[in-house]
Amino acid sequence: MRIYEAKDYQEMSRKAANILSAQIILKPDCVLGLATGSTPIGTYDQLVQWYEKGDLDFREVRTVNLDEYRGLDRGNDQSYYYFMHQHLFDRVNIVPENTNVPDGMEPDSEKECTRYEELIRSMGGVDIQLLGLGHNGHIGFNEPDSSFAKTTHCVDLTESTIEANKRFFASADDVPRQAYTMGIGTIMRAKKILLIVNGEAKADIVARALFGPITPEVPASVLQLHSDVVIVGDSAALAKIPRN
Ligand code: F6R
Repeated sequence: MRIYEAKDYQEMSRKAANILSAQIILKPDCVLGLATGSTPIGTYDQLVQWYEKGDLDFREVRTVNLDEYRGLDRGNDQSYYYFMHQHLFDRVNIVPENTNVPDGMEPDSEKECTRYEELIRSMGGVDIQLLGLGHNGHIGFNEPDSSFAKTTHCVDLTESTIEANKRFFASADDVPRQAYTMGIGTIMRAKKILLIVNGEAKADIVARALFGPITPEVPASVLQLHSDVVIVGDSAALAKIPRN
């Protein structure tokens, strides 16, 4: 586990974008595992800037997103499909057919989750998986639980996640109650993992996830078992990690 400390959100975003762009340059047809939420927005903005400067080429890049709300269609501005197009896909030369987000409108959850898991396998797996961290330690939508979910599955969102995400919706009642998400096993199969965190509100959970016991009650704690994890955090988010 390597931890890079950035002084602020902007520096965190640039460092994370650096790592992703190195992957794209080394392997132009790489599979990027992508995340949504507020944390990666600056990273995507930085990638777009480098693309506009001619320093990055997404023509062969393939992507798989971590998760999607169940029941939101692609045109809904709160869907993760919409988010990815708004923040990255529509701003670079990626081929739309090479981008993948779980289909939140597929009513048959077993069918969709099996399709998504097989899709990732058929692409040869994820070269680098970008992750944000939920306040309760979730990664993707893998909420605290009594066991680690192995594969892509349908989850019931916890009250704490509904509470955290209601800022994007008109009210908490509008937040979908379920989502399709890669499982912990799916995430752990990525060859490399890049976790980004910012803000003092994440400081406690960062310390618990990275230095506390490995338990499905803190899903991100499983990352301690991955052989190639890079964490890029701002000073506020890393304030409570052990220093020696
Ligand atoms: C997003 C995702 C979530 C977020 C997490 C942190 O695709 O899977 O796990 O990464 O909820 O969200 P933010 O970045 O908004 O704090």
